[in-house]
Amino acid sequence: MYVAAKDRYQKMKYNHVGKSGLKLPQLSLGFWQNFGNEKPYKEVKEIVLKAFDNGITHFDLANNYGRPFGSAESNLGRILKEELAPYRDELVISTKAGYTMWDGPYGDHGSRKYIMASLDQSLNRLGLKYVDIFYHHRPDYDTPLIETMKTLADVVTQGKALYIGLSNYPKDRALEAIRILRGYGVELLIHQPKLSMLNTWVHDDKLDEMLIEEGVGMIPFSVLSQGLLTMKYIKDVPLSSRAGNPDVPFLNKDNITSELKQKLIELDTIAKSRNQSLAQMAISWAYNQKAVSSVLLGVSRISQLELNLETLNNLEFSNEELNRIQKIIKWICIKTRYVIWFFFIF
Ligand SMILES: NC(=O)c1ccc[n+]([C@@H]2O[C@H](COP(=O)([O-])OP(=O)(O)OC[C@H]3O[C@@H](n4cnc5c(N)ncnc54)[C@H](OP(=O)(O)O)[C@@H]3O)[C@@H](O)[C@H]2O)c1
Repeated sequence: MYVAAKDRYQKMKYNHVGKSGLKLPQLSLGFWQNFGNEKPYKEVKEIVLKAFDNGITHFDLANNYGRPFGSAESNLGRILKEELAPYRDELVISTKAGYTMWDGPYGDHGSRKYIMASLDQSLNRLGLKYVDIFYHHRPDYDTPLIETMKTLADVVTQGKALYIGLSNYPKDRALEAIRILRGYGVELLIHQPKLSMLNTWVHDDKLDEMLIEEGVGMIPFSVLSQGLLTMKYIKDVPLSSRAGNPDVPFLNKDNITSELKQKLIELDTIAKSRNQSLAQMAISWAYNQKAVSSVLLGVSRISQLELNLETLNNLEFSNEELNRIQKIIKWICIKTRYVIWFFFIF
């Protein structure tokens, strides 16, 4: 039987999510890649328990995380059963529905039919009666927003989720959703957007400012741009990396241009002057963005988790460092803006 480290709450701080009473750890653990059956269960369990021992009380999942889809939830369900069930009330467990999960017309998007069935399936895989946060994973412009939001409000009323989140919603759609939910007596807790030094659409859209005004928290994802914001791709593409893995189609080698590498080297110089790795500086940078309550970590091995946790020792930036970073990333963001908006809109 696993016994959690007694000092696990010494290292981490816990921030209120927006104006809510819920607190999240500065760093949360994401289960998108490396937590399903694509990884030996023993390794998944080791990472999850290590995270909890270091004060990471929040695990972020979705119906379609892991290969095959659902296997990340099943693995967490098994870890809960074997080890963490006694700590259920010390954990915040999130899941989502919104991307393709099963075949046919009812396994995707934002209908009541899909969302209700998907949450029941997630609870089944997790072996839980409720999740703490349930997200609509992406906007669906073919379903009336009121249908999706009424469904989210109903899952709270039914006790299947304690709080509601939205992910990948642009500002205007998110604001509309916040108002509809409020009409049903539910405050949106949190928004989960992609945000990193290589992708600042959240700032361009002013999503961050709207969330602050509305009292909603933010938890950014892919803050390392899936690993690009490290020095691993400077010489070549390691086979053991996400871009080098042919089974993972999400990080294209073609993104690693010589211009990007030059900018990564410049960012790494700043990181070194702060006694951090580039990855650690990218996590610190994300943590310091407006509205952020917690930053999602993605890791493929325990050593990465350990390195990323060290970020907590150095989260502050001088104005000079921020200005130097801004000059570099402004260039990258201008170059990538067209591509980002293309993927964001379609
Ligand atoms: N809501 C959404 O639509 C959405 C979408 C994507 C992700 N998310 C959430 O955000 C979480 C994180 O996303 P992500 O995996 O894209 O995050 P990320 O932090 O941008 O990338 C994580 C990857 O970077 C590499 N890495 C991490 N730490 C490292 C270190 N210290 N040194 C070198 N490489 C390091 C590892 O890849 P290697 O395989 O190369 O080692 C790791 O799997 C997900 O698990 C999920 O919970 C949400």
